[in-house]
Amino acid sequence: TVKKDLAGVRVLITAGATREDIDPVRFITNKSTGKMGYALAQAARDRGAEVTLVSGVSHLKPPHDLEFIPVVSAIDMYHAVLQRFHLTDVVIKAAAVADYRPKSAAEHKIKKGTGELVLEMSRNPDILLELGQKKKAGQILVGFAAESQDLLENAAQKVQKKKLDFLVANDITLPDAGFGTETNIAALVYPDCEPLCLPKMDKIKLAHRILDEVVGIRKSSPID
Ligand code: C5P
Repeated sequence: TVKKDLAGVRVLITAGATREDIDPVRFITNKSTGKMGYALAQAARDRGAEVTLVSGVSHLKPPHDLEFIPVVSAIDMYHAVLQRFHLTDVVIKAAAVADYRPKSAAEHKIKKGTGELVLEMSRNPDILLELGQKKKAGQILVGFAAESQDLLENAAQKVQKKKLDFLVANDITLPDAGFGTETNIAALVYPDCEPLCLPKMDKIKLAHRILDEVVGIRKSSPID
């Protein structure tokens, strides 16, 4: 049996990959499967939280007993998250959000020509950055960062820039970590103290470890 130490806490989790249309049949996406975010959603639910799972594209089955909001593009995810943020105590952004989208999705299938094709891209909004700017006292923000180089340096910059309570950093070049695996190797990176490197563990175990951290932060700065 799991301790209900998140009873009544409103937790919003994002998961999976966003998908950006190029034309009616083609799109740009990434390797996220949603496993880490879905594990977090299940773990938070089991600990008594009122969970909203905003999911980009994932082949996983939506977990039961939580609010499930499927989205496709980064802009869709942006609207879904921003709409709910004021009713949320904890946001955990495990989704792999596309930083760029094709400038305009073509209305019809793009025909092949003989030469090169240049695809112009626009910047997507950084959802977490905006949440950091809007965050009120007592709201907790947790980010994820997958890096393939300078993991801890990049993570430390993101935690400051996005005004996060902490960030879960993982090196996607390590075996058994990152996309599609059952396990993960992560470091918890804080704004004001040294990072904590965690050993390799199952994604569900890591999810509980992340939620332990959230519970700890809520205890050290109670608002209710
Ligand atoms: O800066 P970077 O994209 O690596 O930061 C990763 C964190 O920011 C993740 O938690 C991710 O979900 C979030 N993010 C976001 N909106 C974006 C890009 C990333 O919320 N457009």
